[in-house]
Amino acid sequence: MIICKTKSEIQGALAKRRQAGETIAAVPTMGALHEGHLSLIDVANEISDQVVATIFVNPLQFGANEDFGTYPRTVESDLELLKARGCNFAFTPDRNDLFPADFSTKISVAGVGEDHCALSRPQFFDGVATIVTKLLMILSPDVAVFGEKDYQQLAVIKRLVRDLDIATEIVGAPTVRESDGLAMSSRNQYLSVEERNVAPALYKALTAAAEKLHSADHNWSEIRDASIEQLLGAGFSSVDYLHFVDAFSLAHIEKVDRPGRLLAAAWIGKTRLIDNVPVEAA
Ligand code: PAF
Repeated sequence: MIICKTKSEIQGALAKRRQAGETIAAVPTMGALHEGHLSLIDVANEISDQVVATIFVNPLQFGANEDFGTYPRTVESDLELLKARGCNFAFTPDRNDLFPADFSTKISVAGVGEDHCALSRPQFFDGVATIVTKLLMILSPDVAVFGEKDYQQLAVIKRLVRDLDIATEIVGAPTVRESDGLAMSSRNQYLSVEERNVAPALYKALTAAAEKLHSADHNWSEIRDASIEQLLGAGFSSVDYLHFVDAFSLAHIEKVDRPGRLLAAAWIGKTRLIDNVPVEAA
């Protein structure tokens, strides 16, 4: 695996592969890699000749009171994992190479980038949209793979690529879960043993709510209220939101008359977990 720290190094290395007629898939990450990320490398390997993973903890997507300072940084072991998984290139830029002191541009996606996670993290999607646009401009990959675990993020990225005519296909890959259903996330390592035991209740509540939505006389607001009670009863400290949305526009819906998605974010102590499940059209 070739490791490049600068934009010019990675662009030079990828240009050679492109000249050789090979296709390139990008897997942007913030490091602290787990099996969920590595499954994205597998998907990228299946659909392209060369895979480039990026590791960069993006300051733009963290709020002032969020965990930018403490976000796990494990670059050396991340690089080992990527290499073992058959990743061909790793791009590990420095902050200054991507963001000069007078950097002043923001990519902001209205609609799908509003509501849901944006309610409590107002800077998050602008930060993600800006860094992902930059990474796609730098790498010019044929495809880029992102996890469905961050469902709203995936929708935001699909939208910006379409709106800005960026010639990269965005591929969503299924969420990888622990054996008890908890969605894999770099933030799971913040959980204490007791909190870790509570955490799978989020996926359980979502799958139960999705099932209830398919009962003939379902009422979404009753299902939502019961699911929130279920989460608080299981030990979650608070529920940021539990929304039933159109799977593509992320607009709120109440009936299973089209492909839908249940999206949720909830706190256990100081850790905020997100998850989502599909709701098939009846
Ligand atoms: O999902 C992530 O890890 C990040 O939000 C991303 C897409 C790498 C942008 O920093």
